[in-house]
Amino acid sequence: MIKVAILGATGYTALELLKILARHPQSDVVALTTRQTRNPPVTEVHPSLTGLFDLPCEDLSHEEVGRRADIVFCALPHTASMDAVPQLLDSGCRVIDLSADYRLDDPGVYEKWYGHVHTDPTRLKSTVYGLPELFRDQIPDADLVANPGCYTSTSILGLAPLLAEGFIEPNGIIIDAKSGVSGAGRTPKQGTLYAECNESVTAYGIGNHRHTPEIEQILSVVSGVSVSVAFNPHLMPMDRGILCSMYPRVRTTASVDEMMAACREFYSGQPFVRVVEHIPATKHVAYTNYCDISVRMNRDQLVVFSATDNLIKGASGVAVQNLNLMLGLDQQTGLI
Ligand SMILES: NC(=O)c1ccc[n+]([C@@H]2O[C@H](COP(=O)([O-])OP(=O)(O)OC[C@H]3O[C@@H](n4cnc5c(N)ncnc54)[C@H](OP(=O)(O)O)[C@@H]3O)[C@@H](O)[C@H]2O)c1
Repeated sequence: MIKVAILGATGYTALELLKILARHPQSDVVALTTRQTRNPPVTEVHPSLTGLFDLPCEDLSHEEVGRRADIVFCALPHTASMDAVPQLLDSGCRVIDLSADYRLDDPGVYEKWYGHVHTDPTRLKSTVYGLPELFRDQIPDADLVANPGCYTSTSILGLAPLLAEGFIEPNGIIIDAKSGVSGAGRTPKQGTLYAECNESVTAYGIGNHRHTPEIEQILSVVSGVSVSVAFNPHLMPMDRGILCSMYPRVRTTASVDEMMAACREFYSGQPFVRVVEHIPATKHVAYTNYCDISVRMNRDQLVVFSATDNLIKGASGVAVQNLNLMLGLDQQTGLI
C-alpha cells in the first residue's frame, strides 16, 4: 500500500480525491491538512465521507507530512503550493500538484499572469505536465507532476488531435468555455455567492484568464508551432462541469468524418477520452473521469466540442490517473 497525504483537505478537489481513493485498492490515506488548528474530523468537513474515512484534518508541517506519506496531493491554491512542494520533495515524497504553480515553463510568464514572483523557478522547466493522454511516457518516473487546469485539459484534449494532424490553423482559435461554479473552489468569493451567480450567465476573465498561457504552451508542444487562442470563459449557474465550444480555422480539405477518425486514432488506447457522435454535454460526463469530444461543420465554420467534469477529469480524477501511472498501475485503477 502506498501512503498518501492530501494538503488542502477541506476543499472541493480534496473531497473528490478522497471519494476516489476510498475505492482505490493500492492507496492508504495517512494525512490530511488544513490551516484550522482544532483538527476537525474529515467527516465533519465533508459529511459525504461518513463511513469511508476516520481521520482528522490537521495543521501539519510539511516535514511531518513528508514523514508520514510517500505521495502527496497538493490541493492548495497557487502560491501556497510552491511554498510546500520543495520541502515535500526534499523529504523524499513524490508530489502531484493540483495548483497552477508548476504548470508553466517560464517563470516570467507565471509572474505576468499570476502576479507573483515564482519562488521555485528552477523546477519549472523539468516538471512533467500531468495530462496522461499527451505525456503518458513522462509521468511514471516523475517526482513532481503538475496536474492540468480544468478549462485547459478540456480545451487541449479537443484541439490536440486536429492541431497535431495539421487540420486547423494554430492561430486565432476561439475557445468559448463554460464552467460550473465549483470550478472556483470552496473558499468563499463574492462572485460565487448564490445570489450573484444563480439564474445568471456571464463571461469573465476576457483577455486575462490565467488558463490562456497554459493552453497555448501545451498546444504549442503538441503541434510543434506557436499556438494562440482567444479564451472566453463563462460562469454557469450549475454545480459542476465544463463545456468548450471551439472555433478554429480549417486548413484541410478533409471531411468531418475524417477528422473524427483522426481523433479516434489519436486517442486509441486512451480509456478516458471518448470521441462521440452526439454533441458532448456536461451531464454525460458528470462524476466521471471521461472527456467527451466531437467535431462538427456549421456552414464553413468548424466547431470542436469537449466536455468534462471539472472536479474529476479536470482535477482529481486525472490526479489519480497520474498516481496510477507513477505507481505502475493500470490508469483506470479506482476510476471506473
Ligand atoms: N475546483 C476545480 O474545479 C479545480 C480544477 C482544477 C484545478 N484546481 C486547482 O486545485 C487547487 C485546489 O482547488 P479547490 O477547488 O479544491 O480549492 P478550495 O475548495 O478552495 O480548497 C483549497 C483548500 O486549501 C486551503 N487553503 C486555502 N488557502 C490556503 C493557503 N493560503 N495556504 C494553505 N492552505 C490554503 C483551504 O483549506 P483550509 O482553509 O482548511 O486551510 C481550502 O479548503 C487550486 O489550486 C485550484 O486552482 C481546481
